Amino acid sequence: MVVTQTCFGFFLLLSWGTIVTKAKTQIFMGSNCQNTSQEPLSIAYQANLDKILAWMSSDAATSKGYNHTSIGINTPVYGQYDCRGDVAENFCQFCVSFASREAPKRCPNRVSAIVWYEYCMLRYSNESFFGKILTHPTWHALGTKNVSNMEEVRRGEGFVKSMISKATQESNHLYYLGSFNFSSTQKRFGMVHCGRDLSNEACRQCLEALFEQTHKCCEQNIGWSIWSGTCMIRYDDQMFYRLSNQTSSLPPSNDETGESKDYKFVIILFFICIVL
Ligand SMILES: *[C@@H]1O[C@H](CO)[C@@H](O)[C@H](O)[C@H]1NC(C)=O
Ligand SMILES: *[C@@H]1O[C@H](CO)[C@@H](O)[C@H](O)[C@H]1NC(C)=O
Ligand SMILES: *[C@@H]1O[C@H](CO)[C@@H](O)[C@H](O)[C@H]1NC(C)=O
Ligand SMILES: *[C@@H]1O[C@H](CO)[C@@H](O)[C@H](O)[C@H]1NC(C)=O
Ligand SMILES: *[C@@H]1O[C@H](CO)[C@@H](O)[C@H](O)[C@H]1NC(C)=O
Ligand SMILES: *[C@@H]1O[C@H](CO)[C@@H](O)[C@H](O)[C@H]1NC(C)=O
Repeated sequence: MVVTQTCFGFFLLLSWGTIVTKAKTQIFMGSNCQNTSQEPLSIAYQANLDKILAWMSSDAATSKGYNHTSIGINTPVYGQYDCRGDVAENFCQFCVSFASREAPKRCPNRVSAIVWYEYCMLRYSNESFFGKILTHPTWHALGTKNVSNMEEVRRGEGFVKSMISKATQESNHLYYLGSFNFSSTQKRFGMVHCGRDLSNEACRQCLEALFEQTHKCCEQNIGWSIWSGTCMIRYDDQMFYRLSNQTSSLPPSNDETGESKDYKFVIILFFICIVL
């Protein structure tokens, strides 16, 4: 059990790239206990909650990376998990089973909770939330480098807008990842993702609400991510996502030797995970 968690933790580092280099332990990305008071859960509710947490953990092993359901009639619990679009099967299940153990600890004695980890989110509540967007609260994380001019900001904005459009209007995947050549030597990478219980239109609204906030919080940085309970956007000059056809996702080499060392370290541990 401990080993699985350790593996997962290090696997996350691989993809967290530049941001994690500053804060290595930041696997957990946020939680929200949704304003509910802390009081002992009824025995019936607790039993349904335990069942739905176990369901999420096992369903994630065979699903396409997301699902939602409800359990119970008189005291129903609504539950949902959603792995990032580039993560499925084993890694999705690692994340969801980890989150299903952690969520009740992050939100003890609460009827509802949302927890975010880098690769998945998990949510439960006594009220149905499927298909509804949440644009508050939001969380964000920033890289260490600033942009050098407004032109750079505008190009980033254009790229993010095009990803939102590709995820919601040009496809119904509710998720898109891509990159562009920023200059002859630099690339930029991006990802947008919505909970896959949302409609295209709800997804677009959620992403646009986040995008509005990036003007204030984020876009002066070269690398940032922002997310709410139902969608996320990430932008970076480092490759941070997994390409589905590749068995490993080595980030491109970069000139800061400290980071290269970190990546090697992580890749070795990742290999150990596979062996286990
Ligand atoms: C929690 O309460 C605040 C203030 O009443 C509200 O703005 C916010 O949307 C609520 N959050 C959730 C997740 O319901
Ligand atoms: C989602 O969960 C429901 C309820 O357990 C199940 O019937 C369904 O097959 C699952 N869907 C996928 C795509 O795994
Ligand atoms: C869900 O739980 C909250 C907090 O205990 C309660 O105020 C609310 O009425 C419950 N909703 C339903 C549909 O039971
Ligand atoms: C980035 O910008 C912030 C605020 O404008 C400033 O405080 C910080 O020193 C800058 N960092 C670098 C590395 O230039
Ligand atoms: C981006 O740059 C790579 C080499 O760095 C090149 O192979 C590729 O064709 C470029 N793509 C575009 C769209 O210019
Ligand atoms: C990646 O895999 C998909 C199917 O899973 C396939 O359609 C696609 O052509 C592959 N792409 C590359 C670059 O091999």
